[in-house]
Amino acid sequence: MSNENKSLVDVRGLKMYFPVGKSLLAKNRRWLKAVDDVSFTIGRGETFGLVGESGCGKTTVGRCLVRLYQPTAGSILFDGQDIAHTREKQLAPYRKRMQMIFQDPYASLNPRMTIASIIAEPLLKTGMSKAELNERVRELIDLVGLKPDHMQRYPHEFSGGQRQRVGIARALASSPEFIVCDEPISALDVSIQAQVINTLEELQERLGLSYLFVSHDLSMVRHISHTVGVMYLGCMVERAPVQELYRNMLHPYTKALMSAVPVPDPDAAAKAERIHLSGDVPTPIDPPSGCRFRARCPYATERCAQERPELRDVGNGHFVACHIV
Ligand SMILES: Nc1ncnc2c1ncn2[C@@H]1O[C@H](COP(=O)(O)OP(=O)(O)OP(=O)(O)O)[C@@H](O)[C@H]1O
Ligand code: SF4
Ligand SMILES: [Mg+2]
Repeated sequence: MSNENKSLVDVRGLKMYFPVGKSLLAKNRRWLKAVDDVSFTIGRGETFGLVGESGCGKTTVGRCLVRLYQPTAGSILFDGQDIAHTREKQLAPYRKRMQMIFQDPYASLNPRMTIASIIAEPLLKTGMSKAELNERVRELIDLVGLKPDHMQRYPHEFSGGQRQRVGIARALASSPEFIVCDEPISALDVSIQAQVINTLEELQERLGLSYLFVSHDLSMVRHISHTVGVMYLGCMVERAPVQELYRNMLHPYTKALMSAVPVPDPDAAAKAERIHLSGDVPTPIDPPSGCRFRARCPYATERCAQERPELRDVGNGHFVACHIV
């Protein structure tokens, strides 16, 4: 099998620009470049972890992948078919195969619906009989670790972790192959986070799911991902298989990001080069020329202002976008 067949999602040159202001003249129009030329693949049954500071474009990538947004440019091959610009009507078969779960399970669940009807809702137009629907909801409830007597209750009667389980069950209703998990545990108590992660991992194992896992928690990303991508201001600056990345961080931004978190292993902490992030993240409206990290990079040179560094292959499946690496 070629590499291409092995990956379920293959993103190439993805761009998502949002218009700023209301100018009707094309030449006066300004763009917020939330995602600006991002490429990566997600293997079948694998997790791609996406990290980076707030506002770097992680959620926007996720929303493009499940086509909640139509990207400005680029391709999104899903099981070999480019769905980046597919019209809504033709998207229907793909909508079933990809789902998204959100950070705030409460906001994404209708408070006036019972758990059973929330989970069944995506299945209403599938022509299933009432008995079949009921059976499927029971199956899903069991799959995510909830109990049958939860079915007739309402979201407010549940804890955060249980609500996230309802969100997962609803996402699984259409038997998707791919799920975007956008900060699925960051709103939960630390004690509950590991349980929800375990459930996601078990489901991946059982159902062969692929995940895009977006998180600020770098140790969680390390734990759950097969491959990790680091984003900065709309660009992917480094990407590698998880062990390779955590053993051998190359991009100055990745090092800065990682050195900002406490490392449980003191040897690794001693070895890690400490780079402190100074200044604020610039705005993605008219981002800086050349390397977008240059205003905060201690190694920036003249070349970094002029030339945008390409994501280069440095071996072992490791890619990095920096002129000095
Ligand atoms: N629908 C939208 N319209 C206009 N701008 C948007 C829209 N969605 C996101 N943005 C902007 O795009 C940039 C990237 O946002 P995004 O939500 O993807 O970041 P993020 O990495 O998910 O951040 P966080 O970690 O805070 O969730 C931000 O500057 C944001 O303000
Ligand atoms: S390309 Fe230049 S500015 Fe960008 S990370 Fe590398 S050294 Fe720093
Ligand atoms: Mg986000």
